Amino acid sequence: MTVPHSVRIGALVLATTAFYGYVGQLVPQKEVQPPPEVAIRSDLTTADMVPVGREIMAGKGLCFTCHTIGKTGALRFPDLEGVDVRAKSRIPGLSDVEYLAQSMYEPDAYIVQGFNPGMPHINQPPISLTDQEILCVIAYLQTLGGTPTVTLRTTHRYNGGTAAPAPGAAPGGGAR
Ligand code: HEC
Repeated sequence: MTVPHSVRIGALVLATTAFYGYVGQLVPQKEVQPPPEVAIRSDLTTADMVPVGREIMAGKGLCFTCHTIGKTGALRFPDLEGVDVRAKSRIPGLSDVEYLAQSMYEPDAYIVQGFNPGMPHINQPPISLTDQEILCVIAYLQTLGGTPTVTLRTTHRYNGGTAAPAPGAAPGGGAR
């Protein structure tokens, strides 16, 4: 009895697939994990936002691929130590919150003296932080030389607020 041609080809296909499948198993797989997503619960307090912001800066935000905190000398990127102090006076009329938001949403609007443009738009691909994530990052940046004031409800120019909210608006938002 002869085995039909099609059955022989089928068997060969199966054997080949199984063989490559087996070899594939033997090769160690390098797992590339995307940066961990940090879940932002809507009830986070300002104090809760600070460590979340720090984590976002180290992970999804990629901030520390360029920035340092507390490094001196000839740097390619501005060191962020004490940045909240500078943020309050960089641009007349802009609060630290507004300036820090601008530095992420519209990085080329103000170029720190002695540095070149080139900071990515943090709310756009590939980094694409959400408005809430950026608020957490602002909370952390405020601890560098200042006291965090933002909450998850703080508005600024880039998330639906205006530069100078009416008196009595959410604390920390806009000019202070
Ligand atoms: C590819 C490199 C790069 C990455 C990534 C990057 N930055 Fe920057 N950043 C720069 C450069 C260059 C400047 C200076 C030029 C300018 O003012 O835009 C700057 C400026 C700043 C300033 C202004 C500092 C000051 O003294 O006024 C802040 C604040 C800042 N970055 C925060 C961040 C945060 C937060 C992140 C992550 C969410 C981040 N940066 C990611 C390159 C980067």
